Amino acid sequence: MAHVKIRFMPAMRAYKLYREKAQYFFVATGRPLKSFRGACFSMPQFNLEKYLADRNSVINQRLGELLVKKDEFPKSLHRAMHYSLFAGGKRLRPVLALAACEAVGGPIEAVLNTACAIECIHTYSLIHDDLPALDNDDLRRGRPTCHKAFGEATAILAGDALLTAAFELMAKTDGVDRGAVLMAIVEVARAAGSTGMIGGQAVDIESEGKDVPFPVLEYIHIHKTGDLILASIKAGAILGGASSVQLESLVKYGRAVGLAFQIADDILDVEGSPAELGKAVGGDEKKGKATYPAFVGVNESKKRANELVDMAVDALSGLGDKAEPLRAVARYITARRK
Ligand code: IPE
Ligand code: IPE
Ligand code: MG
Ligand code: MG
Ligand code: MG
Repeated sequence: MAHVKIRFMPAMRAYKLYREKAQYFFVATGRPLKSFRGACFSMPQFNLEKYLADRNSVINQRLGELLVKKDEFPKSLHRAMHYSLFAGGKRLRPVLALAACEAVGGPIEAVLNTACAIECIHTYSLIHDDLPALDNDDLRRGRPTCHKAFGEATAILAGDALLTAAFELMAKTDGVDRGAVLMAIVEVARAAGSTGMIGGQAVDIESEGKDVPFPVLEYIHIHKTGDLILASIKAGAILGGASSVQLESLVKYGRAVGLAFQIADDILDVEGSPAELGKAVGGDEKKGKATYPAFVGVNESKKRANELVDMAVDALSGLGDKAEPLRAVARYITARRK
């Protein structure tokens, strides 16, 4: 990784720089900077904030182009879909799909429709997750949940329509080998279905208020959240033309960040703030959810999430500088406050 050197500067300027870089270092690595010397003599140059902002705007623009317009008939349905989709989610899954494609040397255009499709699937899963029959939440992405704003029936239908739209968007991928497109669709379909995300959601709901063993907790986390994250990375790699060795490294990375993401989500439900998260906190404990903090405590959960992030970064050792965005996103997953 490239480093820059800064020497002989006035104390105030050096201190200001240290503050800025230390914060940046923390966002990028999840670890605090140990020394001033470290701040001045060893600064990673990858700008994650800028990368996320750039990729977000590409994703949002394509989503806007692809989705049925919000005033099209039936209006309440399309408005509900737009309401939840453009409420300011982090877009982490589509970003990961783009970053995986880039890491294997592919053009992001190859995966852009699929990245948008995955965000539609993720948004549908949130709309349904918030319903009274599931987690019964009132706040999502800083707004009243879809069923609070549009009623339960429209929220259920908006979720159905977003899921279905995703498959149309993926199938409309142009300029990529058709076999690769089909493989990516199969990956995403499986990850979203009953042996993936929905399987995890089913066990999550069935386990509420029960004393389930640890393997059940792992099953829930790997499936309800890990699988769609892993599929985002796999789809990006496949559509970017990954070799089997590259795909293997990215699968290891994807499994680790997928689980780390849900552990971090559990931790934020204990320690996060609703203002930053845009959703309520403390609900997991109230509902008797199977979470990492409930099983092993917050500190041990943080340790495990950080270990997973280290494993994810290690898995990318053969991929060189092109995988820098994936490394930075992995570290952000545990450092994030939203
Ligand atoms: C929240 O996902 C639900 C989980 C699967 C843990 P995100 O934290 O990615 O939510 P948004 O997309 O940024 O709103
Ligand atoms: C949601 O997990 C997972 C899916 C939506 C598939 P959570 O129920 O923990 O997500 P939040 O905390 O409501 O965002
Ligand atoms: Mg849930
Ligand atoms: Mg929930
Ligand atoms: Mg949660």
